Amino acid sequence: MKTQLITRAIGAPLNRIDGVQKVTGAAKYAYEYPVEGVTYVFPVQSTIAKGRVVSIDTSAARALPGVIAVLSHENAPRLAPLDDAELALFQSDAVVYHGQFVAAVVAETSEIARQAASLVVVHYEEQPHDVQLRADRRDLYRPQSIAAGFYQTDTFDGDVEAALTAAAVSLDHTYTTPAEHNNPLEPHATTAIWSDEGVTLYDANQGAHSIRDTVASAFSLPPERVRVIARYVGGGFGSKGFPHPHVILAVMAAQVTKRPVKLALTRQQMFALVGYRTPTIQHIRLGADRDGRLMAIAHDVVEQTATIQEFAEQTAVPSRMMYATSNRRTTHRLARLDVPANSWMRAPGECPGMFALESAMDELASACGLDPIELRIRNEPAVDPESGHPFSSRNLVACLREGAQRFGWQQRDPQPRARRNGSWLSGTGVAALTYPAIQFPATALVQVDRAGNYHVRIDATDIGTGAWTALTQIAADALEVPPERVQLEIGDSFLPKAFLAGGSSGTASWGWAICNAASTLRARLHEEYGGIAPADGLEASGAFETNPEAQQFSMHAFGAQFAEVRVNMTTGEVRVPRLLGVFAAGRIINPKTARSQLLGGMTMGLSMALHEASVLDPRFGDYVNHDFAEYHIATNADVGTIDVIWIDEEDPHVNPMGSKGIGELGIVGTAAAIANAVYHATGIRIRDLPITLDKLLR
Ligand code: MOS
Repeated sequence: MKTQLITRAIGAPLNRIDGVQKVTGAAKYAYEYPVEGVTYVFPVQSTIAKGRVVSIDTSAARALPGVIAVLSHENAPRLAPLDDAELALFQSDAVVYHGQFVAAVVAETSEIARQAASLVVVHYEEQPHDVQLRADRRDLYRPQSIAAGFYQTDTFDGDVEAALTAAAVSLDHTYTTPAEHNNPLEPHATTAIWSDEGVTLYDANQGAHSIRDTVASAFSLPPERVRVIARYVGGGFGSKGFPHPHVILAVMAAQVTKRPVKLALTRQQMFALVGYRTPTIQHIRLGADRDGRLMAIAHDVVEQTATIQEFAEQTAVPSRMMYATSNRRTTHRLARLDVPANSWMRAPGECPGMFALESAMDELASACGLDPIELRIRNEPAVDPESGHPFSSRNLVACLREGAQRFGWQQRDPQPRARRNGSWLSGTGVAALTYPAIQFPATALVQVDRAGNYHVRIDATDIGTGAWTALTQIAADALEVPPERVQLEIGDSFLPKAFLAGGSSGTASWGWAICNAASTLRARLHEEYGGIAPADGLEASGAFETNPEAQQFSMHAFGAQFAEVRVNMTTGEVRVPRLLGVFAAGRIINPKTARSQLLGGMTMGLSMALHEASVLDPRFGDYVNHDFAEYHIATNADVGTIDVIWIDEEDPHVNPMGSKGIGELGIVGTAAAIANAVYHATGIRIRDLPITLDKLLR
């Protein structure tokens, strides 16, 4: 049952309740827990992309004082098989991607471990590898499903070919996005401690229960004997969603040596080991009538997966519901390559997919001689074109109109390459954006003591998003007490189970479970105890399973991105003096932390537009620009004025808070808005990200 909360704390710009702990260094991250007698593990990575390990000479490594053990497939304990084959650490001699763990050294210090790892000599039998993604490969295949079963691989509605033939205006273009790597500030790190009771991990992740379940399966332990603690996490963006091989390595090293073990991946190691966004090749065809009304959308995507683990990203999915047209085709094809495993990166699917769709919409606006905002308004659907369901709320048009006003869009001259100041051309661009409102099951426990203080326990994770604060605000309103009365505990698999911080589902799912626990507790407190808790306190648990209204309504957040760019005619340099994001994401729980998340998303989108690209060397099969010297990320100097605003949106269907996820929303559409602005400035359409100066000078 869902009743809307009366909001008091919700909507207030509370400071982060973990803020002081973080800035004073008191908040401990996975690698920072002091552990008596701790040792350190450092991996040895394969230098080939495909083949097998023939022999490993560990004598020099073992001779180094302070080395405790060298692990490899030759001596590693057997693990139970897991769904994710990448986690079968040291279970065979096979090498299936460059950078795979082939051995590891455990030593008394991290320096000795690293030095000894460099002394391990591995001989390989190398096989030819195949790492190049191309749309004309003959071995592209259609995965069973995309996003791990969440969406259908392909959709066909109406008659796309006939509609394209009949269309007065049509376009046919291919857009590409490169591989991009997640780079959270905190690297992936694990501290593993075995005892007679089981194993405890301090681990940097997006959900302790998912790590717990995997470790328990791999090491054949009952889940309750694995405890995973992740109270503070320095960013994840998807890369810490599910465990990667380093978690297994830390646990195995601690098991074998019977000593506690710490492991922190280096930035360079992260480029092979914790996932990345697939490169995409997206073929888009649009057809419209003379008034710009869409008659057909075809969005055909080619992307890659690793041989070791299939990951099929849902790149064309937003094209299924974004605009009104009855003729739609979306397809996804994969090339199975000898590459490191790709995975989630902030708004997988929507982020690269909306770059292509929103660039194409801008091109269509030019072709129709229409303002790009007007084009989108004309194609606003009355219901979700895919499901036929009404939207629980959809305020894309309001975002476009509000943004147009704030940004000063009305004065815009649509003519490209028409504004010049010295050697700089300037222009503006717009793009629409969307992200689904997703919720996953969660459970929570709420306790009250006699003095009226509340404890709220749930295995939620704050990966830097502000969940500590937002959940405290939700609990306060659900309990009808001020936030000061609420003490929250999150980030521990010993707490009630909840789904991980992914898919921007956290606040909605965890918050709903807390609401349910709170309402049970309040009912009991009043009905059985007259409002005063008994001497030994009172507790109630609550769960959120599914939202029945998700079967009747299509639930998405929407928004619009506006960009102003300047492009230097001599150097091709692109500057972005101004970005504006306008969002409609239901009720905003905490305007301060929400603004920060949306700013972060837009900055990451700007980074995608101008800088980020992981370069694969086909000779070796590895991502070669694997550090911050060569993998460029937007910094303060790249960012002019970024404004974030949202419109008031009441959505009674999504959850009791009326909130939609915002963790991924801000990155969607930014790159298209910037590319569209670059076209407006220069008359040059860049269809392959990032927009580097060589492409503008060609
Ligand atoms: Mo997000 S890419 O679902 O962590």
